[in-house]
Amino acid sequence: MKLPYAESYKIKMVETIKKSTREERERWIKEARYNLFNLRSDQVFIDLLTDSGTGAMSDKQWSEIMLGDESYAGASSYYKMKEAIKEICGFDYFLPTHQGRAAENVLFSVLVKEGDLVPGNSHFDTTKGHIELRKATAVDCTIDEAFDTTNYHPFKGNININKLEDVLKKVPSEKITFIVVTVTCNSSGGQPVSMQNLREIREVADKYGKLVLFDSARFAENAYFIKKRGKGYEDKTIREIVKEMFSYADVMTMSCKKDAIVNMGGFIGFRNEELFNKAVVYNILFEGYVTYGGMSGRDMNALAQGLKEGTEFDYLESRIEQVAYLGKKLTDYGVPLILPYGGHAIFVDALRFLPNIPREEFPAQVLPIELYIEGGVRGVEIGALMADRDPVTRENRFPELELMRMAIPRRVYTNNHMDHVAVALANVYERRNKIKRGVKIIKEAPILRHFTVELDRI
Ligand code: F0G
Repeated sequence: MKLPYAESYKIKMVETIKKSTREERERWIKEARYNLFNLRSDQVFIDLLTDSGTGAMSDKQWSEIMLGDESYAGASSYYKMKEAIKEICGFDYFLPTHQGRAAENVLFSVLVKEGDLVPGNSHFDTTKGHIELRKATAVDCTIDEAFDTTNYHPFKGNININKLEDVLKKVPSEKITFIVVTVTCNSSGGQPVSMQNLREIREVADKYGKLVLFDSARFAENAYFIKKRGKGYEDKTIREIVKEMFSYADVMTMSCKKDAIVNMGGFIGFRNEELFNKAVVYNILFEGYVTYGGMSGRDMNALAQGLKEGTEFDYLESRIEQVAYLGKKLTDYGVPLILPYGGHAIFVDALRFLPNIPREEFPAQVLPIELYIEGGVRGVEIGALMADRDPVTRENRFPELELMRMAIPRRVYTNNHMDHVAVALANVYERRNKIKRGVKIIKEAPILRHFTVELDRI
């Protein structure tokens, strides 16, 4: 028999999580205005809201915390982080930031101006937010296959090169400075981008004289998929694949709360000194001095160690196979999911799960509400609420997909927890025809509304 994918670590410390009754959960979600971000974490049994900053650090990372150098300038922790970034991603220059969106804020202050277009593969919401805040437009050039949840395409994060070239051809050159490639692509279901596609994006960028930015929150998971699904990469190490991936990028932003397995942290990596120097000014203004940029020395140490652990094959295999374990269980129960399973999360297709709920009533928000009531599990809507209103017309935007994401924190839950999640969602699926109406908005913010929106049942 083939041996199962057992975890490449064992547990040294545990944290108690609380169960609750259905009646309590019905009351709590109502009090939370049907917005799962408003729940207190102790009202949640299994928290799959995000895999961001929710991972379990290793004994080695905690040891690094003790070794942190908290000097304002020139801390050894900064150099530890610098060396890890150079060794793993290959970038000579970097700026620490407190998290991923801070990296976007700093970098886009240099690269994005009013009226610009920023083509890419389904930009993450903060990336899009930082583009739109500067009165520029994110153009989604993802391959069409990504929007068919049942189509098994091994690299659904890929950019359609024709769509990309069309944009570059049509738009005056000064309006486009760079192309964003999100690896893996969170918004299209945690789907990877192939090495071939990265290479082609590089060629197109060179042809039109554009920069390539990798939004790299989950670059290691992307590398794992390249190893598993990309021809010719079976025998390469994750580190070799990562090196090649980044060789096609000019600049990277990273939310280290994902693949660097830390609770807080981020950075921008640069190849070009001039661009780095421009960004330094904004980093000092927004984040902090060059050698700490919004991070404690101890956190930079843990991050450097986490980058190394996050790019080890055995860790990645147990991580991604745990996500697939949940996916397989749900598939067996008949629950409609995005296929293939994502790297960090399982995405449930709300339009197929709840076909009777019109899109104006936010079916992808109804699903996490019902899942929470059923089993105390917290997922998140990736649909019309998250898509915000059109900045010009102020109409609701309806993205191609309405999804509920269940993101799995790294090294935190066991497969017994996954079984609980699967059964809870299967129970909701069984009573799906009884769920006839959705939710309506009571109060919303003009941008990134899903975080604070207040809703009521219709
Ligand atoms: N880029 C991607 C692809 C992301 O998934 C995220 C965050 C960011 C940038 C921003 O990074 O949170 O450190 O500021 N994603 C989280 C999530 C929030 O739940 O998927 P951040």
